[in-house]
This record gives sequence, C-alpha cells and structure tokens, in this order.
Amino acid sequence: MITARRVGDAGDHMDRIYRRQRHIYDVTRKYYLLGRDAMIRDLAPPANGTVLEAGCGTGRNLIRAAQLYPQARFFGLDVSRAMLETARAHVAQAGLAGRITLAEGDATDFDPVALFGQQWFDRIFLSYTLSMIPDWIGVLDHVAHMIGADGRLHLVDFGQQERLPAPFRSALFAWLRKFDVTPRPYLQEAAQALAVHERLTLRWQAKYRGYAWSAQLER
Ligand SMILES: C[S@@+](CC[C@H](N)C(=O)[O-])C[C@H]1O[C@@H](n2cnc3c(N)ncnc32)[C@H](O)[C@@H]1O
Repeated sequence: MITARRVGDAGDHMDRIYRRQRHIYDVTRKYYLLGRDAMIRDLAPPANGTVLEAGCGTGRNLIRAAQLYPQARFFGLDVSRAMLETARAHVAQAGLAGRITLAEGDATDFDPVALFGQQWFDRIFLSYTLSMIPDWIGVLDHVAHMIGADGRLHLVDFGQQERLPAPFRSALFAWLRKFDVTPRPYLQEAAQALAVHERLTLRWQAKYRGYAWSAQLER
C-alpha cells in the first residue's frame, strides 16, 4: 500500500537532489550512466507487450525504448515530482504521451493496478535506481511479483569498479555520495537469491571492467 507520508519523504528527498540537476541530467549522465542503451536493446518486449521502468527519472530510457519498440506500451514510475515534471515534458515533446504512462510512486511499495491498471508486465527495468534506494532489496522483491509469464526483469547499475584502478573507484564513490548514490556490493548475491526464491533464471554481466553491472531475471 502506498502511504502519502512515505512517498512524500522519499519524494522530497529526491526533489532536493534533482530540482536543478534535472535540467542538465540527460546531457551529463550520458557520460557515466553506462550500459543503459544495451539494456534497452535487450528488452525486446513481445508485440503489444507492456514495459515498466521503476525510477524513470527524466523519461530518457522510456522514450528510447518506445521509439525502438513501437508496438509496446510503456509505464514509468518515479518518487520525485520534479523528475516526473521533466519526464512528462520530454514524453510530450517526443509525441509519445499516448504510449508512455507516468505516475508518482515509491518503488518499494507501489500498487501497479492502482497506478497503471496492470498487475503484470512483460518487461520491468531498473536503471541506476537501486543505488539510490535504501531498501533496494525490498524493491527487487516487490517488482519481482509483477513479472508476467515469460517476462523479464532487467537491471543496470554501478558495479564495484573491481577491475579499475583503486583511486578511480575511491574518487567515483566519493563523488556519487554527493548525489546519495551507493553502488550495491551485494547486488549479484541479492539477484541470485531472488532468482532462487522466485524461480527465475539469472543472467549476470560485469561491464566496462566492473564500472557497471547488469542482470536479467527471466521467468
Ligand atoms: C539516477 S536516477 C536514474 C533515472 C533513470 N532510471 C535513468 O537511467 O536515467 C534515479 C531515479 O530514481 C528515482 N528514485 C529514487 N528513489 C526512488 C523510489 N523510492 N521510488 C521510485 N523512484 C525513486 C529518483 O527520483 C531518480 O529519478
């Protein structure tokens, strides 16, 4: 159940981070939120399929995906009203308001039927979102229940920079902390546990020498 207080607290916090950043978000993040386009290429939803992004930010991924898969329907959720305002403007500019539905909600406990009229989705993705949500394991558990038959959950996020020089890792992590971003060292273990618990098949990949990690969990 979504409570106004919970969405409000997390939303106010994200609004503070993104109120000004959202205007330069897409231009700046393309240099360091790596692996997003590869994830979009892997989505390949079925014709007339449904695709959900939790933590959709400015709508950048949803717009690219909607352009790539013209027969699918897209749904985006974010806890930040400021980000959603930008996403709505971008979606309208792209002429995709009829195929991308946006809603305010908290990824840890949103009700997909109340927000989107959908209980399951053919594809769900989380792009650089788990590293911003304290209860990130709760998000994984929550959205796993919305993966439809033959559906998939796709993840992409910061890795542990495990094959990059240690000073690079320290500098990157210190900089990310300024935006309240914490790369999750146990993401693979959590994905594996989810796969076992929900009987999903996990495909895992460390990219760019561990800069980014990506996963697919298939039903
Ligand atoms: C780093 S941005 C990534 C945006 C987008 N997914 C992308 O790849 O460009 C993280 C997004 O997650 C949203 N977010 C943070 N906590 C959230 C929560 N609890 N529920 C839903 N969205 C959340 C933020 O408002 C922000 O838009």
